[in-house]
Order: sequence, then C-alpha cells, then structure tokens
Amino acid sequence: MQNKVVVVVGATGGIGSALAPKLAENGAKLVLVARDIHKLEEFVNNLEDDYDAKAIAIPTDITKYEQVEGMVQKAIAEFGQIDVLVNTAGAGILKQFNRIEPQDLDLMLDLNLKGNFYTSQIVANAMKERKVGHICNVIGILGKHSMAMASAYCASKFGAVGFSKCMADELRRFGIKMTLFYFGGIDSPFWDDVSLKVDRSKMLTTETAANAIMFALSADPQAVPMELNIQPESHLFF
Ligand SMILES: NC(=O)c1ccc[n+]([C@@H]2O[C@H](COP(=O)([O-])OP(=O)(O)OC[C@H]3O[C@@H](n4cnc5c(N)ncnc54)[C@H](OP(=O)(O)O)[C@@H]3O)[C@@H](O)[C@H]2O)c1
Repeated sequence: MQNKVVVVVGATGGIGSALAPKLAENGAKLVLVARDIHKLEEFVNNLEDDYDAKAIAIPTDITKYEQVEGMVQKAIAEFGQIDVLVNTAGAGILKQFNRIEPQDLDLMLDLNLKGNFYTSQIVANAMKERKVGHICNVIGILGKHSMAMASAYCASKFGAVGFSKCMADELRRFGIKMTLFYFGGIDSPFWDDVSLKVDRSKMLTTETAANAIMFALSADPQAVPMELNIQPESHLFF
C-alpha cells in the first residue's frame, strides 16, 4: 500500500475506523470521507500522530451526487490520483415489511444503493484514465440472502451487488478490480439504532472485517479477489 491513495468512504464508522489505521501503517495516503467533519478531523489528527500518516478529511454526503463529484476532485487535487476506493458507508433499517415507511425505503436506497453507485461510478471514471485501480464495496451477507425484517435493507444491498457486478464487467478492460465483501453481523455502531434484538457478542469484530479488506488489497497484482464471504460461526447463511 506504500504511497497508494486510498479513499475510505464511511471512514468514521466501525469498519472504516478499523481499516484506516492499517492502511496508514502500510504507508497509504488516505482520503477519509463521511458527513461529520468533527469526527473526521479528529481521526485525521490521530492518524497523523500515531502513524505519521498523510491523510485528509473530506466531509461528504454520498447521497448527493454533486458532493461526491466534489470529493473526488478534491482528493485528486490533493494527491494526484486515486488507487483504491473502499465503500463502507451505509446504514440498516430492520423491521417488518409492513412497518417500512416511504422515508425508510428512501434512506436505504439513497445511501446503500445510490450513494454506493455514485462513489463507485465517479471514482472508477477517474481511475479509467490511468488503467489501474481497485474498488472494494462492502455489501454484507444480506446482499445475497434474504432475512425476515430486512426487506428495505436487502432491496438496497441486492441492488448494490447488481450494479457492482455490471460495473466490474465493464471495468475489467481498464485494469480496474472490484471486490465485493459479504460480511455477516459485525459488532459496530451500525447496530446502535437498530431495534431488532441481536447478540452483538457473537458477531464478527470490525478488526476481522478490516483484515479481510487488507487481504483483498494485498492480493497479487494478477489476482482478482472478486467476492469474500465472511460470517460468524454462530449465524451462517449458505
Ligand atoms: N455492521 C454490520 O453488521 C455489517 C454487516 C455487513 C455489512 N455491513 C455494511 O458495512 C458498511 C459499514 O458498516 P459499519 O458497521 O461500519 O457501519 P457504521 O459503524 O454505522 O458506520 C457507517 C459510516 O457511514 C457513514 N455515513 C452514513 N451515512 C453517510 C452518508 N450519507 N454519506 C457519507 N457517509 C455516511 C458514517 O459517518 P457519518 O454519519 O458521519 O456520515 C459512518 O462513517 C455498511 O454498508 C453496512 O451495510 C455492516
């Protein structure tokens, strides 16, 4: 990862904040993206202090196309290029389908599907000119398996798998890799606002998720780890 420019979207979240220090430790230049500027700036300061990292914070709401465009322009103005994009912003609304309000569905689709699409599309366009790049889309196991209470969430995540695979097909000839991550439950702030009763002590850790992303990013140049499926032993979908 030495001197690679990595954009982490959702950098202040559970997975993002476990991943960014590993990238910094390995010499990556970091573009940290989320909405909360205070959390982002504090994170940048910590990474600079702890790892002597080169990192910038770009507050962005990825549900807004123009903000994503602005973020990519700023990242390239600062570091000259983008080598890796890790899309790990997202949220979950888990409740019975007949209790899903229109605004719940809008949030799931705007953030988990459209926001992820915008960042993948706009960053991939910037990568295409250099004919190199790697996009990691953190989907979750509910992007390929159904679960009661997850109708809106699954709609967004199945959609994210669909567009990611199509983009991967188109991007291959430009030397751009795409890896999809199907994690099972991960103990992170994601669950703080979820009303569904879950046992967080049996979930994966954010460390496990970050290690899986580092594994995909460190694969041999000619290897393409297309999909990684990692779930907790206690709760397996096949
Ligand atoms: N945790 C799990 O069990 C689990 C399992 C499988 C897959 N996943 C997926 O993994 C991803 C990350 O999960 P996590 O556990 O790390 O979640 P998390 O701890 O809740 O973090 C979410 C991150 O997304 C950012 N974010 C939210 N809305 C945003 C927006 N509109 N624009 C830009 N950034 C936004 C948040 O920062 P701000 O609020 O400051 O914007 C935060 O940095 C999600 O896509 C989730 O669906 C999670």
